Amino acid sequence: VDPNLNLAEEIKRLKKEKNAVILAHYYQLGEIQDIADYVGDSLGLSQQAAATNADIIIFAGVHFMAETAKILAPTKKVLIPDLSAGCSLADSVPVDKFKKFIEDNPGHTVISYVNTSAEIKALSDIVCTSSNAVQIVNSLPKNEKIIFGPDRNLGNYIQGLTGREMKIWDGACHVHEEFSLNRILEIKREHPNAKILAHPECKQPILIAADFVGSTADLLRFAGSDLASEYIVATESGILHQMRKKYPKKLFIPAPPLDSSCGCNDCVFMKLITLKKIYLTLKYEIPEVTLDASLIDKAKGSITRMLEISS
Ligand code: 13P
Ligand code: SF4
Repeated sequence: VDPNLNLAEEIKRLKKEKNAVILAHYYQLGEIQDIADYVGDSLGLSQQAAATNADIIIFAGVHFMAETAKILAPTKKVLIPDLSAGCSLADSVPVDKFKKFIEDNPGHTVISYVNTSAEIKALSDIVCTSSNAVQIVNSLPKNEKIIFGPDRNLGNYIQGLTGREMKIWDGACHVHEEFSLNRILEIKREHPNAKILAHPECKQPILIAADFVGSTADLLRFAGSDLASEYIVATESGILHQMRKKYPKKLFIPAPPLDSSCGCNDCVFMKLITLKKIYLTLKYEIPEVTLDASLIDKAKGSITRMLEISS
């Protein structure tokens, strides 16, 4: 790529020429969020994918998100700028083991977090995201037995909020598991008025210490309230770009993991996507996310059921 090329301008031009749309997650680099047509959480991104009129969707996020877009918009070309942008949480639930888990617990309704492969979604009755998990669980009759996977922290949190006992898969995300409560409390001592915001994938002690728990979009909304002007944010650091952009007069401090030199926590998979890769993907229309039509068929029901409940 010519170093003198204005990547943002070229991306804009190619997008128009090819009727393409860029959907970006809040954990993406700031410069990517700034050129995206839509920036959002997992739920918002899937709703956008289902509704778009574009011919090409460039997914600036991780693989399961692009797969979900493909399932919801199978006639569109879905491109992801780096195929190795995976997810440690999605990887914590191998398909054969999850199948066995379901067989070992017959008569259960299977709720899967969106951070899963298409194969896991195909084994599930209904999908949820962090912003609608309570709503999805509460939509089921009180006597319904529930399997929840793969995130144990979100599962335990939802179980506490809804009072529903669930069989929870023992998976977790490497980013959210790493936050250190001690280091968060050290910051809180220096900023006693700061509110602690946490994503429900964090471990329980952090969720207990948090003033507000929610999806990335929920945290962003809460940061706009008049309750405080300082926030300690326990989720992937990309969301701070959006918070600082929306509320420039407020102070946002990334919650640190136990062991880090940068003082914040990045998702290595999310950060594989760069502006240069987006430009090349748009130009050459690779790598493409493809799925078998039969797998799309099997996985679609659980996602559309979620979208119907969340609409
Ligand atoms: P959200 O649904 O809150 O955007 O979270 C996605 C995710 O990957 C969290 O780690
Ligand atoms: Fe997956 Fe964790 Fe990265 Fe979210 S932050 S995409 S759950 S690895």
